[in-house]
Amino acid sequence: MGSFATLDQFADRFAEASVLVRLDLNSPIEDGTVQDNRRFERHARTVSELAADGHRVICLAHQGRPGRDDFTHLDQHADVFSEHLDQQIAFVADVHGEDAVAAIEDADPGEVVLLDNVRMVEDELADREPAEHAESDLVSQLAAPADAYINDAYSAAHRTHASLVGFPYVLPAYAGRVMETEYEANSAIARRSFDGKVTMVLGGTKATDVIGVMDAIGDKVDRFCLGGIVGELFLRARGNPVGVDLPGEGTALFGEQWERNEETIRSMLEERGDQIRLPVDLAYVGEDGERAEVDVEDIDEKITPFPDVGTQTVRNYREEIVDSEAVFVKGALGLFEDERFSEGTVGVLEAIAETDCFSVVGGGDTSRAIGMYWLDEDSFSHVSIAGGAYIKALTGEPLVAIEVLEANEPE
Ligand code: 3PG
Repeated sequence: MGSFATLDQFADRFAEASVLVRLDLNSPIEDGTVQDNRRFERHARTVSELAADGHRVICLAHQGRPGRDDFTHLDQHADVFSEHLDQQIAFVADVHGEDAVAAIEDADPGEVVLLDNVRMVEDELADREPAEHAESDLVSQLAAPADAYINDAYSAAHRTHASLVGFPYVLPAYAGRVMETEYEANSAIARRSFDGKVTMVLGGTKATDVIGVMDAIGDKVDRFCLGGIVGELFLRARGNPVGVDLPGEGTALFGEQWERNEETIRSMLEERGDQIRLPVDLAYVGEDGERAEVDVEDIDEKITPFPDVGTQTVRNYREEIVDSEAVFVKGALGLFEDERFSEGTVGVLEAIAETDCFSVVGGGDTSRAIGMYWLDEDSFSHVSIAGGAYIKALTGEPLVAIEVLEANEPE
């Protein structure tokens, strides 16, 4: 465990405190509607614990970024979050002005308030060092009426933003339950040593991120099982004619990621090809619109997308998983949202669920497959709600908001 204080130490010291709690409620927005997801459910555990103990809970969170379509106020988030808390929470359309300060001063024991999107004020995203953020108006005006700060936003902990790194310099600061459990599970590969085989299943569309992970922790992993975009790029490097964008598809998925990573992929295959398992077959849409499969060695030219790995590949990956002591998953092996192409992603998750290995499943997409295909979340050691922070943790890089909590641990 990192040497930061948790809610256990907070509970020993405070009663009916006015506490600022940084959450990560950043969510997909479809047709203007905030989509419910695991982040609400997980943060509700931290917030209910605090409210049940009689604290006055003032939540801070962000949504999107200025200039993006998903940049919006948090009024809908307050409603979705209320359902998970079984308690109506008050939304205050202000971040650190008079209304926000009054909301902190006036909150009753057990009350929960959500302030507006912290990214709506410039201080939040200003390019400053953590200690400088502590002097910003955002931090000083909110800290004045508050007794303590809790950071539960593990999935944003790689960002040097005011509400994530400033408060620990001016208030007693603690890690919330989400922060604590995510840290423990996601950094296990960097911090723990496993006696048995360690396997990583990597897929999704962000091949560059995944290759970065492979590069950083190659010495801690016995087997990498690849699918998705990264799987095709490795096959291409090995000489199979896949891993290219088809006309009309743009170049971002394969072309640009190939340019960027070709050299690294080739040297990985050369230096530690034994560690890397690649698809032996791939799935595509057949003439009748159903799933069809082809052996990788029978592909002469890529004329159709391959939205999933094939059945034999899934069998091979299952074999790797069942005798592993630890399995980490990042990114889906196929487009599982389309049931025809869910075999790779779901097959791997089922294999993990059937074994009693230590397992961490991360990345928003992959964890969504767990709910979609009725897998039991409890069959996994941990299902992460983080994206970028999970990638950083896998590579062993420190997360700045956690470093700040550690550096300012209350006495
Ligand atoms: C996330 O959704 O991964 C976090 O909230 C971080 O969001 P960001 O990438 O916009 O900083």
